[in-house]
Amino acid sequence: MRRPPIEARGTARQPLGMSPARFLRDYWQKRPLLIRNAFPDFTPPLSADDLAGLACMDGALARIVLHDAKRDRWTLRSGPFDDATFARLPESHWTLLVQDVDKWDPDTAALLEAFAFIPSWRIDDVMVSYATDGGGVGAHVDQYDVFLLQGLGQRRWSIDTRPNPPTAFRDDVELKLLREFNPTHTWTLAPGDLLYLPPGLPHDGVAAGECMTFSIGMRAPAAAELLQDFAERVAETWPESRRYADPDLRPVRDAGEIDAAALRRARRALGAFARAMDEDAFADWFGAFITRYRCAQTAQPRRRALDAAVIAQKLERCTFEPSPHSRFAWHRLGRGARLHVAGSTYDAPVAWARALAGSRQLLKGARLAKLAQRQRGIALLAALINAGHITLRQH
Ligand code: SIN
Ligand code: CO
Repeated sequence: MRRPPIEARGTARQPLGMSPARFLRDYWQKRPLLIRNAFPDFTPPLSADDLAGLACMDGALARIVLHDAKRDRWTLRSGPFDDATFARLPESHWTLLVQDVDKWDPDTAALLEAFAFIPSWRIDDVMVSYATDGGGVGAHVDQYDVFLLQGLGQRRWSIDTRPNPPTAFRDDVELKLLREFNPTHTWTLAPGDLLYLPPGLPHDGVAAGECMTFSIGMRAPAAAELLQDFAERVAETWPESRRYADPDLRPVRDAGEIDAAALRRARRALGAFARAMDEDAFADWFGAFITRYRCAQTAQPRRRALDAAVIAQKLERCTFEPSPHSRFAWHRLGRGARLHVAGSTYDAPVAWARALAGSRQLLKGARLAKLAQRQRGIALLAALINAGHITLRQH
């Protein structure tokens, strides 16, 4: 199939230059589209002064981004602002951005009527930016689709349409700016021009003279957010009597071990939800959960960290007292073990996991000294002492 063109021209009947059905099929969530003259004779529903006024109101979500082009330094300021903020701004290279303008200004909200072919609950807001010459927020990617409508003056937009563009962020700026940006297309947009960008597409808009841009932004919950809320809702419908149950329990040799039968029972209690994780990840999760479950107190880390070498020197002369509030349990992973302590998980040699999780009483250093993998075991012991789960006693 021939690639759909990246540019279109709006008409009075078809602002997108095509039917909404064709736009959704060929561009929505897939590829960018520049639509010249989508809003013919466009005049902004609010002025730059109105926007500045909004940015001074309590509760307004406003930011100012300044760019020192010579040193490529970026400064981000968060609103609400006051008149003095604006009076002190330089001549050029800054932009004011106000989110949720549609919630404050009905004329701006009316812009959304042009996007009524998209479910209203998919639309986040109309963000309005005012920029002086050279102003912009730098090259970045957004998580959501956006329609960038040029409202006043001109803005030069550059985008990178290559598959899998580099997405690493610069670590010297508060804004999530791309470290690398190699545009494949650059256009200058005039009032009424509209640029649609799918999520994750690198872009950079720089004002060519004074300009205003209206960003119609979408929203789409992360699957992890959906799962969290959904699982909570499902949990509300499950009766208290549906629990981890083990009527098939047989006497265990290692009281601290979470064995394969226990993991099967935990999976059974969760039903289909358990399938979201592979067996090792599930065992890690269950171990962390069950050692944190119904614990009234959290361990206090040691004020001065103890060195493993110090413990190694006097291991035989020490005893170790597990905190009664820290639960210990372990499970096998390959030839080793994962030791769970009050919700934290550590790699451990099996013998050490068994010894540490197997007793609620004082542990004799002389006994631990006989275990295999002494160095790793002592490092683990030091980590548990420093986290406050075990107290060292010397005699
Ligand atoms: C802007 O209006 O300056 C920024 C819009 C964006 O790139 O998301
Ligand atoms: Co953006």
